[in-house]
Amino acid sequence: MAEAVVEVKTVKSLADLGIKDLPINYVKDEDERPTVAYNDFSKEVPVISLTNAGNGGAEHTELIRELRVACKQWGMFQIKDHGVPTELNSQLMCCAEEFFSLPVKEKMQYAIQEGKFVGYGNGSFINDDPLMDWRELYVTTCFPDRAIQSWPPKPVQFREVLAKYSDEMLELAKTLLALISESLGVEADAIEKACGEGQQKVLLNYYPTCPRPDLTLGLKRHTDPGTLTILLQDKVGGLQATKDNGKTWVTVEPIDGAFVVNIGDQMHALSNGIFKSADHQAVVNSSVRRQSIVTFYNPHPDSIVYPLDALMATKGKCHTGRRFEPYVYREFYQRKMTKHLLDRDIKRSKGTSLVQQQPEV
Ligand code: OGA
Ligand code: NI
Repeated sequence: MAEAVVEVKTVKSLADLGIKDLPINYVKDEDERPTVAYNDFSKEVPVISLTNAGNGGAEHTELIRELRVACKQWGMFQIKDHGVPTELNSQLMCCAEEFFSLPVKEKMQYAIQEGKFVGYGNGSFINDDPLMDWRELYVTTCFPDRAIQSWPPKPVQFREVLAKYSDEMLELAKTLLALISESLGVEADAIEKACGEGQQKVLLNYYPTCPRPDLTLGLKRHTDPGTLTILLQDKVGGLQATKDNGKTWVTVEPIDGAFVVNIGDQMHALSNGIFKSADHQAVVNSSVRRQSIVTFYNPHPDSIVYPLDALMATKGKCHTGRRFEPYVYREFYQRKMTKHLLDRDIKRSKGTSLVQQQPEV
C-alpha cells in the first residue's frame, strides 16, 4: 500500500491559507508575549556612522567612545556609512523571498538534519520542536567552509549573490572587531586573535503575516552565542531589544541601508562582562511579511573562551579579576542549542518564569 504523503504545513503556507486562529504550538506563555508593537519605532538604540572609522583624530576618538557606550548599555547599535553596496543587500533580500516562495517540497530538500545547524527550518532550529516561532529560516556556513554546491540553486542568482554578500560581511565584521577592540582599550587585533580562525554563517529569516501577533513571536527572546552579529532588516520592523533584562522593550527603527550590529555571548565573556550580550527578540504582525538577513561571526569551535588578558592587567578600574571561567566554544554552543528546551520543561513543570535563551548559530 502506498504510504500516505503528509503535506508539511509551514508557517508561510499557513499564512497563505489565511488561517484566522493561531495553532496552539505557536502560542507563547503570557510572560513571553510581545508588549510593544512591531511598528512602534524607537530611536534609543544608538545609530553610529562609520565615516570616520579610519581617520584618526578627534572624530575617530568620538566614534570609539560612541561604540563603547553602545556596547556597554545595549550590546547593540546600528551602523551607517559602512561602504557595503545597498544594491547587494536588496539582491539578497529578493533571492531570500524567492527561496521562501518555493513549494514546501523543494524547501524541505534543504531541511536541517538532526544535530546539524545548517539548512532550512520551519518554526525552529530543532526538528519536532513542540513550541515554534512564527518564522521560516535558511542558514548556511560561508567561511571558512563554503559548500556552495549545497546551497539552493534557486533562484539562479542565489549562490553568486550570497557569496558576494558574505565576502562583504566578513570585511565589515573585521573592521568592526578592530573598532570594538579599540573601544575596549585593547590592541586592534585582540578580539580577532582570540577567535582563532573565525567562522561565518548567514541566516535568512522569513516572518510571514500572522493571524495573532499578540500571542506569539517571530523569534523568541535570546542572546546570540558568538562574537558579533550583523543584521540587515527590511523596512517593516519587528526586531526588539531590552537593556533592563526584559522589563521594557524597544522596537529597533528600520533605517534604509543600515545594519544592526550586536554583541554575542563570546564577546561578552572576552570583555569580562564590560560589554553586554544583546538580549533581543523579533515580533510579527498581521499585515505585512518581514525579512531579515543575519550574519554571524563566531569563534573557531575549538577556541577556548576567556576574558582578554590585557583587560585583566588593567584591574582596579571597573572590575577586579576574571568574571568568567574558561569554556570551549563548541561545548557552550551545543549546550545552548538544547538548553532552551530544558529551561522550558522546567518552567512548565514549576510554573516559574525563566528567561529562555534561544539557541542561535
Ligand atoms: C537572529 C535574530 C532578529 C530578526 O536571527 O538571531 O535575532 O529581527 N533575528 O530577525
Ligand atoms: Ni539573534
